[in-house]
Amino acid sequence: MDLHGFLKALARRWPTVAVCLVLAVGTALAATSLGTSVYEARTQLFVATRTGQDTAQLSLGQSFSQARVQSYAEIVTTRQVTVPVVKELGLRTTPEELASRITARAPLNTVLIDITVRDAEPRRAARIANAVAERFSTVVERLETPKNVPGSQRKSGTGAETSPVSLRVTQEAVAPAGPVSPRPLLNLAAGVLAGLLLGAGVVALRETLDTTLKTVEALSEFAELPTLATIPYDKNAPKQPLVAADGHSRRAEAFRKLRTNLQFSQVDDPPRIIVVTSSVPGEGKTNTAVNLALSLAEAGVATCLVDADLRRPCVAPAFGLVRDAGLTTVLIGQARIADVTQEVAGGLSVLASGAVPPNPTELLASARMDEVLKELADRYEVVIVDTAPLLPVADTVGLASLAQGTLLVVRAARTRRDQVRAAAESLERVGVRVLGTVFSMASVSKGGRYGYRSYGELPAPRTSVLRGKAAMPAGTGGAGGAGEG
Ligand SMILES: Nc1ncnc2c1ncn2[C@@H]1O[C@H](COP(=O)(O)OP(=O)(O)OP(=O)(O)O)[C@@H](O)[C@H]1O
Ligand SMILES: [Mg+2]
Repeated sequence: MDLHGFLKALARRWPTVAVCLVLAVGTALAATSLGTSVYEARTQLFVATRTGQDTAQLSLGQSFSQARVQSYAEIVTTRQVTVPVVKELGLRTTPEELASRITARAPLNTVLIDITVRDAEPRRAARIANAVAERFSTVVERLETPKNVPGSQRKSGTGAETSPVSLRVTQEAVAPAGPVSPRPLLNLAAGVLAGLLLGAGVVALRETLDTTLKTVEALSEFAELPTLATIPYDKNAPKQPLVAADGHSRRAEAFRKLRTNLQFSQVDDPPRIIVVTSSVPGEGKTNTAVNLALSLAEAGVATCLVDADLRRPCVAPAFGLVRDAGLTTVLIGQARIADVTQEVAGGLSVLASGAVPPNPTELLASARMDEVLKELADRYEVVIVDTAPLLPVADTVGLASLAQGTLLVVRAARTRRDQVRAAAESLERVGVRVLGTVFSMASVSKGGRYGYRSYGELPAPRTSVLRGKAAMPAGTGGAGGAGEG
């Protein structure tokens, strides 16, 4: 997946990103409100050297202090400092825990030491910082006091032994006005960032695991079959399954393209009996079959639409026709084709399913079914057969092998690659000729483009290629054959 594809996936799966964002921001806000406030008090010490007044000595003292100040900073958190502070302030904590809340830092090339103390109470933080500074100064001065130096001017009991350094507070710690943590704005920003990253991660994962076919290019590449049409998703389709014969809607145009592509794709051996099927239920088979048949009839091709989906027959309801008499009535010999064929507007003949039998698989693969299809092919130029899906039931494989060509409907962003492969393989096993795929319910971009238009740019001819010599068996009429008994 390239960046463009990923951005499109993000836009498509925006609810996932939104959920991740809400979760992360919610967590950040909860952590902000539930977390205990931490205050930080800061004090600063200046390390002075007791030296003479001349510049050489002053400079020497300065270098001495700078050289030692880093070591002093390390002493701040030692027990020598923390134990007395805990005792003096009566803190309910251990010296080690207190040490973990103290930070000492000596900025480079200075003789300063910054001490910060963190605590849950602002005033206590300041008191601890000041106590630490005081205790630390005493410890350093004591450490620096020379011990029994031979020849020194030390006079026992006089208290005259002095440290060469002295530490003075330059800035006393005061109770901080606000806490250093939690910081609501920072947490919010972190929550938003984490939410976006999480959302992007989840989308990337879902895209990797999602094997549905989302673009017509992906379908053509995967199925290695020509994509004869891309039928755009139309929210009115469930209410208005039939596209008006002279409609200028995108869907109507797509079905005209399907008709044209079908006619142009098999010029040498145009199929007369075409099965419309798909891998799984609800991919738009019936919608494709019905509208393709209407589109052919519109172009003046004598067409019969047969409802051979004996599991969920839907052709008759689409035209508002009766379903009780039809294909199964003819198969069991209770009626002739002409008796049960119904003519609809546009000159299309419809053979409804008839009563739903208990054994559709056997019935559809029977020799009688073969005879019925041949008879229909004698009467009409094209017979379009709507069927049940391939994978859940075995009805269609046998039926497809009786036809001269099969259209495989693939629902955009719904049918998985493995389902398309399994369907294509099941047809291949019985030697069925797959004419191509129909990419149904594809989302149309704002610009109105929903796929490439290799064949589709060609204008739809008024007269079918299927009406040409190759398509016309001897002795059969044109449209006049329609509906004859
Ligand atoms: N182009 C479209 N845009 C929007 N919805 C559509 C489109 N084509 C079909 N539908 C809707 O999708 C659903 C399934 O369509 P359809 O009945 O044609 O599929 P099917 O493959 O024949 O299903 P089944 O396997 O149940 O026979 C229906 O509700 C239909 O109205
Ligand atoms: Mg159907």
